[in-house]
Amino acid sequence: MTDDNNTYLNGGLILVVTLLVAKLISTLVMRRSKGRLPPVVKAWPPLVGGLMRFLSGPVVMLKEEYPKLGSVFTLKLLTKNITFFIGPEVSAHFFKAPESDLSQQEVYQFNVPTFGPGVVFDVDYSIRQEQFRFFTESLRVNKLRGYVDQMVVEAQEYFSKWGDTGEVDLKYELEHLIILTASRCLLGEEVRNKLFDDVSALFHDLDNGMLPISVLAPNLPIPAHRRRDKARKKLAAIFASIIDSRRQSGKSEHDMLQCFIDSKYKDGRPTTKDEVTGLLIAALFAGQHTSSITSTWTGAYLLTNPQFMSQVVDEQKNILKQHGDKVDHDILSEMEVLYRCIKEALRLHPPLIMLLRQSHADFSVTTREGNEYDIPKGHIVATSPAFANRLPHIYKDPDTYDPDRFAPGREEDKASGAFSYISFGGGRHGCLGEPFAYLQIKAIWSHLLRNFEFELISPFPEIDWNAMVVGVKGKVMVRYKRRQLLVE
Ligand code: HEM
Repeated sequence: MTDDNNTYLNGGLILVVTLLVAKLISTLVMRRSKGRLPPVVKAWPPLVGGLMRFLSGPVVMLKEEYPKLGSVFTLKLLTKNITFFIGPEVSAHFFKAPESDLSQQEVYQFNVPTFGPGVVFDVDYSIRQEQFRFFTESLRVNKLRGYVDQMVVEAQEYFSKWGDTGEVDLKYELEHLIILTASRCLLGEEVRNKLFDDVSALFHDLDNGMLPISVLAPNLPIPAHRRRDKARKKLAAIFASIIDSRRQSGKSEHDMLQCFIDSKYKDGRPTTKDEVTGLLIAALFAGQHTSSITSTWTGAYLLTNPQFMSQVVDEQKNILKQHGDKVDHDILSEMEVLYRCIKEALRLHPPLIMLLRQSHADFSVTTREGNEYDIPKGHIVATSPAFANRLPHIYKDPDTYDPDRFAPGREEDKASGAFSYISFGGGRHGCLGEPFAYLQIKAIWSHLLRNFEFELISPFPEIDWNAMVVGVKGKVMVRYKRRQLLVE
C-alpha cells in the first residue's frame, strides 16, 4: 500500500469515527433533553384527545392531572403544546419574563377584530407598552378620585328607582349598573347621557362576536363576526364625532376618553381617533364583565355567610359614625373588611380562568416537587387563576369562603410569596384596572349595605364555565327591603 492510500484510509477512518461519536453524543443529549421535558397529559384518541380534554373543561383537566403529574406538565393540543405552570413556586417566569421570551401578542390575537386596528395586540410591543402607559395614567389616584364621585352618584340614582320591598335578579341589576358606571367614567357623559342605548347595543354585538370559535378563527365569516365588525365600525364613527366636538368646543372632561384624547406617544404623536376608540373598547372588555361578575359573587357569598355579612355591616356603621353618609375615594379605601370579602369571592371565582403566553426561547424550571424540566421555545405556556387560587398548600380549606384568610396575622396569599393570588394576574402584565375595579364594587356594595336588607331566594349560584369570561350561571334572585343603617 502506498503512503497516499494510507493517508486516505486514515482520513476515512477518522471521519467515520468522528461521525459515530457525534451521533452518539447527539443521541445522548437528545435522550437527556427528552428526559427533561415535562410529563405529558394522557389523552385518547391520539391527535384530537388533548383538544377534547381541553374543550370538555380545562379546569377539570387540571384537577385530574395536577395530582398525577405535578406543578408543570404539557397538554398536546393538535399541533400545539400547552405547558401549564401551577402555583407560585413555578410561575415567576410566566409573570416576569420579558416579552422577547414570553409574549401575549400571538395568543391574544383573537381580540384584534373586536378592539380594532392599531391598538393593543395589533401593534408591536414597544407601541403597546406606550398604550398601556396611557391606561396607567388614566387610572392614577388623582383620576380615580373623580371616577369614584361618579360611581357613587350612579349607584345612588340606580337604587333610588327600587321600591321599598321587592324581588330582583341581582346579577342583572349589577351588570346593568356597572355598564352605566363604566359608560360615565370611561366613555364619557355624551355616551352616558345621550347615546347610552345605541352604544350599549353596539357593545352587545361586540360581546356576542367573541365566541370560543373566535379564539381559533377570529375572522371566520359567521353572522356573529359580521355583526361584530359592523358594530366596531359604528362605534368608531360615534367616538370620532364625540372627539371632534370636544376638540372644536375646547371642552375637557374628567373621563378615560379625555385621557386617551390627550395622550401622546414618546415621539410627540397624538393618538388617532381610531386608536382612542380601540383603547376604550379594550378597557370596557377588560373591566366590565370581570367587575360585574365579582360584584355578584360577593353578594351571593355575603348573603349566605351571616358571620361576614354582620362584619361588613358593622364596618359600614363605624364608617358612617366617622364620616356621616359621605362616600369618596379615601372613605372607600378604609373599607378593609369589605375589601377582603370581595377579594375572597374573586379568589374562588376569578373570571379569567386561563392566562396564556407564547414562548420564544427555551427555559428551564424546577418544580415544587424538585424535578427540573426544559421548556422548548414554541410551546404555549399557561397558568390558571381558577385552579391555582385554590391550592391547599397555600390556602387553608381552599374551597371555603373565608375572607379572614387575608386579615393581618394570617395573610395566606402573602405567606407563600408572590403569585399566590393571581385573579388579577401579576408581574409584567398585572391588571392595570385593579384599584378601579375594587372602588367600583365597594361603591356599589357600601350603598347596598347601608340602604337595604337582603335575602337570597334562589339556590346558591353555579359557575357558568361555558362563558368566555367565566361568571355566574342563571339568575341570582334576592328579596330586598329598604332600611337605613342605624348608627348609635
Ligand atoms: C374584577 C375585575 C378585574 C379582573 C378580575 C381583572 C383581571 C385581569 C387579569 C387576570 C389580567 C392579566 C391578563 C394576563 O396576564 O394575561 C388583567 C390585565 C389587564 N386589565 Fe384587568 N381585571 C379586572 C378589571 C379591570 C378594569 C376595570 C380595567 C380597566 C378599566 C382593567 C384593565 C386591564 C388591562 C389594561 C390589563 C392589561 C395589562 C398588561 O397587559 O400590561 N382590568 N386583568
